Amino acid sequence: MAEIEEPRVVSANVDQVEVADSRRALRDTSRLGASIDTVGLLNPIVVTESGKLVAGRHRLEAVRRLGWAEIPAIIVEDDDLRNRLAEIDENLMREELTVSERGRALNDRESILESMGLRAKASPGTNQHSEKEVPDTVSGTSESHEQPKQEDAPQTTDDMAGEMGVTGRTARRWQRAADTVVRGVLDELDRMHREEGDETANSTTGLLELGKEDENLQRSALHFYKNGDGSWKPKNISEALKKARRDRKNKERAAKRNALSEDMKGVELPDRLQLIHADFTDALSEHPEGSAGLVFSDPPYDLPSLHLWSDMAHYAGSALRPGGFLLAYSGQSALDQVMRRVGEAADLEYFWCISVPNTHGQLRHWQRKTWNSWKPLLIWRKPGGSDEDWDWFRDVLEVGEKDAKDYHDWSQPMSQASKMIEKFSAPGELVVDPMCGAATIPIAAVLSGRRAIGCEISDEHHDAAKARVSALMEEGAFDSEEAA
Ligand SMILES: C[S@@+](CC[C@H](N)C(=O)[O-])C[C@H]1O[C@@H](n2cnc3c(N)ncnc32)[C@H](O)[C@@H]1O
Repeated sequence: MAEIEEPRVVSANVDQVEVADSRRALRDTSRLGASIDTVGLLNPIVVTESGKLVAGRHRLEAVRRLGWAEIPAIIVEDDDLRNRLAEIDENLMREELTVSERGRALNDRESILESMGLRAKASPGTNQHSEKEVPDTVSGTSESHEQPKQEDAPQTTDDMAGEMGVTGRTARRWQRAADTVVRGVLDELDRMHREEGDETANSTTGLLELGKEDENLQRSALHFYKNGDGSWKPKNISEALKKARRDRKNKERAAKRNALSEDMKGVELPDRLQLIHADFTDALSEHPEGSAGLVFSDPPYDLPSLHLWSDMAHYAGSALRPGGFLLAYSGQSALDQVMRRVGEAADLEYFWCISVPNTHGQLRHWQRKTWNSWKPLLIWRKPGGSDEDWDWFRDVLEVGEKDAKDYHDWSQPMSQASKMIEKFSAPGELVVDPMCGAATIPIAAVLSGRRAIGCEISDEHHDAAKARVSALMEEGAFDSEEAA
């Protein structure tokens, strides 16, 4: 049997042990200190011949705090890479390490092995930490290894995984997580784990999901995860990532709109279309009675804007010809108040309610705990007229096109608007949208051979509407016979 050399243990002066990475954050050593105080130091620290600490930073700190002048230390040769490796290997066995810390440590030890010429680099085109096996040159665990195992060869990642009680695949997932999440984000997640008990740094799935995104998105997800957005706080990093992705998409859309409105400023609109930049309660107050065949709008759904339903109904009651229709998209939560306000404001008859499926799938209504997948399109009619005033219609609309929100975050699909305009107004008639946003309804009306007025109070949305019309003009969309 080979003789095992006893480690050389000496008593080292606590103040003379040299700590290389002395700025690295330390965990709280008070519990460790209390245990050393009671039962003594069970494992000596590891120090090189020249006095550099290799392993046992927390033990050293704990005894320093206990006021010890000397500490038992195993002395090893001054071979820095091997010592660093020994330090990492020892650290890796600590149970309180997070997934992020284990992944980083495993990555560090692989770089050290590579520098020592003991481990093959991943072959070109393979992801270093993909779930396929990467050939190691130092292990005796795989029969396919060509090099014989050296007696003093350091352990492979698979060996280390085995010692930690996990599979090689798990270890490689930790490595990939630590490799793909940017350093500053990982540092902060580790800090949150240490100081706040947050478990994200321990979630392999969460870290891997985060690591799929670029640095900016990772940072903004971390920001939402820590701070929420004022009214809402994500439960986990995955929810924060979703919010960060949505946010980025909205910003990209807004930038696209701004670029378009800059490009298109000063372009003439088609004769049949008037876009007014104003509050409709002022701008349309003098509008001739009975001049419109259809008033069609999508008012804001928030409670403070409910008064706009009274104003719009009042306007429609006057501007519509007898038998003309008022169509308006509505939310569900204050439907009772919407119906009451319209009923009180004007002499309009309730006609029908159409179900409009959400273009972008289900939305969560938090207060009512509802997964909302449709909205009502409410219809009223001014008394008079004839049954020639509208055509047969289905009361569930098709899902509209998904790119509808490129110009306005709350845009309705143009195809839905066109269908309704064709059913509820006659060619050549005037269609008015008092709150037109990016002008989906007025544009659809003109493209369907009607005349249209759209009113919009916000600068941004009015500009976006003009830009949209101008872009369509450039494409020749208004040149067809129907729109002429
Ligand atoms: C739900 S959005 C309309 C979206 C539009 N249907 C589209 O497809 O782009 C409601 C719009 O009403 C506008 N608005 C609110 N109050 C208004 C008012 N008093 N006069 C004119 N526009 C108003 C808002 O600025 C907003 O753009």
